[in-house]
Amino acid sequence: MKRLVAPSILSADFNYLGKDIEMINQSEADYIHFDVMDGVFVPNISFGVPVIKHVKKIARKPLDVHLMIVNPDHFIEPFAEAGASILTVHYEACTHLNRTVQLIKSFGIKASVCLNPHTPVAALEDIIHDLDMVLLMSVNPGFGGQKFIENTYKKVRQLRGMIDVAGTECLIEVDGGVNYKTGKRLFEAGANVLVAGSFVFGAENPSEVISGLKQL
Ligand code: DX5
Ligand code: ZN
Repeated sequence: MKRLVAPSILSADFNYLGKDIEMINQSEADYIHFDVMDGVFVPNISFGVPVIKHVKKIARKPLDVHLMIVNPDHFIEPFAEAGASILTVHYEACTHLNRTVQLIKSFGIKASVCLNPHTPVAALEDIIHDLDMVLLMSVNPGFGGQKFIENTYKKVRQLRGMIDVAGTECLIEVDGGVNYKTGKRLFEAGANVLVAGSFVFGAENPSEVISGLKQL
């Protein structure tokens, strides 16, 4: 089973973002994770299309863009044009999720749906066949450095079962409070991609932590 790592630049040093991107380029990371926040869907504002556009010029890993925004349909094209390889929209922000997923795919990029901690995995039963990835929030979205929500392990196991029944290659990504302890249990529960922000960028040697997560 794929075991991938996606450092979240939400916790990077924005005074030296190019340096942190270069560290990720040279590390064992598989994706670069971007936490886009609009201050409406989540109680925080982070960054948007211009940052993705600039990072795309120097990135040597796929851009994994997590849209914590309302009305994501309005921003699929701009983020696809800016260089996103994977676009994640929140289930809770989409009135017509099937249409949104088809719109993402129409730009030739991977479609992913995110569930907040309170949203059951079963909500994806009738769209799982169309998804390249499901992102499970293991914290309430909006901030890095929060405490991991233990119920996430159960959701990972449930989602792994749903995907196995569906017989698809859909990846399971988990985001929030990921460290060596939670990461190991997440991989064991069937997760494929670990998003880590503060655990990576708060470390003395971020590249070493990325390798450590890969080897869990
Ligand atoms: C939403 C963000 C954070 C971030 C990871 O809150 O999606 O979860 O990516 O934050 P850490 O790894 O610092 O918990
Ligand atoms: Zn995220």
